[in-house]
Amino acid sequence: MGSIISQSPAETFALGRALAATLRGGEVLALAGDLGAGKTHFVKGVAAGLGHQSEVTSPTFTLIHEYTGGRLPLCHFDFYRLETEDDVLRIGLDDYLVPPTVLAIEWADKFHGLLPAATHWIHFQVGEGDTRQITT
Ligand SMILES: Nc1ncnc2c1ncn2[C@@H]1O[C@H](COP(=O)(O)OP(=O)(O)OP(=O)(O)O)[C@@H](O)[C@H]1O
Ligand SMILES: [Mg+2]
Repeated sequence: MGSIISQSPAETFALGRALAATLRGGEVLALAGDLGAGKTHFVKGVAAGLGHQSEVTSPTFTLIHEYTGGRLPLCHFDFYRLETEDDVLRIGLDDYLVPPTVLAIEWADKFHGLLPAATHWIHFQVGEGDTRQITT
């Protein structure tokens, strides 16, 4: 994907949906970037692209949301409220690192040491107005 400037939430959603078409199963998508940078919007697009019907909401408080019934299962994590590597292991990250489940992890950079080497990193940066720079 390289580096793209998204001009709207809809464009960020569309980027996530386009990425979903390339997924084969078992990928870890690590999403990094500030509050409101568009990580959740991107995951909504990924979920739609995988054919998940239910509404995707931020797992900030629930930590994990699982979506089944699409082309590949999707597991949406948010590390924002987790403080230690133990916290991450306690919620069972390793149990979800099982193909064909696709993991999408917000604030993944907090615990990058726990993620597989083949993790796909996607960086989100807030720009002027509604622009967001999205870099893979
Ligand atoms: N180009 C854009 N792409 C995505 N979101 C945008 C864009 N422009 C404006 N927004 C707004 O920015 C916010 C992005 O929210 P979102 O929940 O996706 O961010 P987030 O990175 O998941 O934040 P958090 O770290 O709090 O989980 C929304 O309010 C959305 O409407
Ligand atoms: Mg979010």
